[in-house]
Amino acid sequence: MIQMPWKEDEHPFLIADGIARFRDPSDAGLPAAPSLAVIARTLPLSPLPVTFRARPVFGRTKDAMGERRVVRMPSGEGTSLYGTGEVAGSLLRNGARTVCWNTDSFEYSEANQSLYQSHPWVLAVREDGSSFGVLADTTCRCEIDLSTDIRFSVPGDAPPFAVYVIERDTPQQVVAALGDLTGTMPMPPRWALGYQQSRWSYEPASRALEVAREFRARRVPCDVIWLDIDYMDGFRCFTFDPHKFSDPRGLNRELHGLGFKSVWMIDPGIKVDPAYNAYQQGREGDHFLKDHRGEEYHGKVWPGECAFPDFTRETTRRWWGELYREFLDTGIDGVWNDMNEPAVFDNDEKQMPENNVHRADPGLGGPGTHARYHNVYGMLMVRATREGIARLRPNLRPFVLTRSNFIGGQRYAATWTGDNKSTWEHLAWSIPMALNLGLSGQPFVGPDIGGFAGEADPVLFARWMGIGALLPFARGHTIKDSKPHEPWAFGEECENTCRLALERRSRLLPYLYTLFHEASRWGVPIVRPVFFADPADPKLRAVDDCFLLGPDVLVRCRVNEKEPCTSPMPGGFWRSFDPSPRPDGSSDPDLPDLFFRGGSIVPLGPVLQHDGERPLDPLTLIVTPDGRGQARGSLYEDAGDGHAHEDGFFRQTSFFAFQEEDHITLQPQKPFGRLHAPEREVEVVVLLDRGRVVRTKGREGRNIVVPIRA
Ligand code: GLC
Repeated sequence: MIQMPWKEDEHPFLIADGIARFRDPSDAGLPAAPSLAVIARTLPLSPLPVTFRARPVFGRTKDAMGERRVVRMPSGEGTSLYGTGEVAGSLLRNGARTVCWNTDSFEYSEANQSLYQSHPWVLAVREDGSSFGVLADTTCRCEIDLSTDIRFSVPGDAPPFAVYVIERDTPQQVVAALGDLTGTMPMPPRWALGYQQSRWSYEPASRALEVAREFRARRVPCDVIWLDIDYMDGFRCFTFDPHKFSDPRGLNRELHGLGFKSVWMIDPGIKVDPAYNAYQQGREGDHFLKDHRGEEYHGKVWPGECAFPDFTRETTRRWWGELYREFLDTGIDGVWNDMNEPAVFDNDEKQMPENNVHRADPGLGGPGTHARYHNVYGMLMVRATREGIARLRPNLRPFVLTRSNFIGGQRYAATWTGDNKSTWEHLAWSIPMALNLGLSGQPFVGPDIGGFAGEADPVLFARWMGIGALLPFARGHTIKDSKPHEPWAFGEECENTCRLALERRSRLLPYLYTLFHEASRWGVPIVRPVFFADPADPKLRAVDDCFLLGPDVLVRCRVNEKEPCTSPMPGGFWRSFDPSPRPDGSSDPDLPDLFFRGGSIVPLGPVLQHDGERPLDPLTLIVTPDGRGQARGSLYEDAGDGHAHEDGFFRQTSFFAFQEEDHITLQPQKPFGRLHAPEREVEVVVLLDRGRVVRTKGREGRNIVVPIRA
């Protein structure tokens, strides 16, 4: 049975298996404004009844913040709460208060309840491991209070909003259902999975090239060089400084020649300067946001007084997308949208007036105040950017990074966790922040490796690189005027650790790319909390310093300078293995310990300095037989860019291994998809008990027999 969303006349309205939409009963039959988070589409609904164990209670209250609309959802004794998007601090959110209000939170701490993004969403895992999720479908300033139960509240004058409740058997299924509801990340170009090097700023152009050459000379894998705001002419977006960056095309050509891609920053603030093309066009086309009197609103950012595109209008988004035409023509590969909360420097809160006016299209809810559209400004900006790039380069996959976003924004851009600090505390938060964003629908995330504000030291930097290299988005970045923060900047020992960390990432890329594909298809996170291995195990609920890379690789990190990781291991068995040991075969003590799940086959590649160094040959398969001597795994491959994979030009290979007496046979399954991979060598590495490792080589597509005699 298929039912269309949006046509409900009953309360609640079932949208798909285990997903229900509850409307505020005081919302007297008003046509529901289509949500910005939730995408309207038909989802399968089978006649099997799903029991919703609890339903949200809508009401109003008066508290210190004044009159408020409130929705309360009982969570039940022993339930662990997660999600709420981008939050600093521990993985487990019980007791926390988060305010969805996108804020430029330089050097944030746990006390900051509003960071750069908003995700009015809570994932709940009951004591028995069953799970549900609650999404408050409002773009307004929304408080999520998890001190008792789950409570969302918005100002009393905010429009009524619906609440989606997802009830599934496991947290994995609830997060996947969130992907059904809010969309999933499109496949990024494969180069965007590589390590990326940034700073505020590499300038002039020759410095960016120098850094790129240094990576190659030192054989430290790296795919991308980032250009921060100082490439611009007086911080005017879409322009180049005539002295420091007089030949952006030449710079991109040289970077490409070295095997690098380049990503360049674009902010939303357009300098008020009648002689500047983007400003002139924006003014003539009436694209800028208005103040409450209907005048063009101006706020200060890097270039001084700026006007801000009103991205709530399709015509403005199209205009914005077109601005990238000449910019991309210089050979730029990806775009970094920053300051899009949007941040202005006119007050301590760095916020524009809430009574500014957006002339939003009816499809988004029609004209409204900034209070209503503030939280989606960044998401609509990256939507405009992504759609513009896709129109200009229809044959390539866009890559956009954003600082601000809203739930559902994974459809448009990857993200990083903003202006963190070079401290051990921020290193530790890198893990739960990436995990909670993943549990909120955004899989493509990572921190500024090394920390943005302040100075790292060799041990902190090495540890951060070790962990950051295993998170989905891996980029080193640092603030203006800090000391150099490239992998070689902290001495030889740290450089060696960084090289091994990035070689490890490079080796894991076939597995990582397979996980990216799963995330884009099913909405499951790439990095996952350890409790995903056993949601019913209460010991795993608050593990902050370990994570799962997909289902099969467990990463145990040392996030304190001295102490080892003492977090509990999940059940089943996990075998330790290091795919990038030091030359003497030992593991670098500053890198996280990796464990492979019993029953899994994990595909690895050779160390590549960058994505262009393919083909992937040999393919290494890490086989960890389970108690019955069996293991399974899969590998997804495609062209790495472009859209042919959507027409079936991909290759999904499944592997199966089984033990018979004193040998293990790896049996290839018939690959799925239209892409033919080259014949290649396969190295099979079998992880056995007592640390025994047995290796054999063979050819892909044939049975490979591995003798495992003790
Ligand atoms: C913001 C960004 C930071 C960037 C800086 C200059 O602080 O968060 O990453 O380097 O602006 O553009």
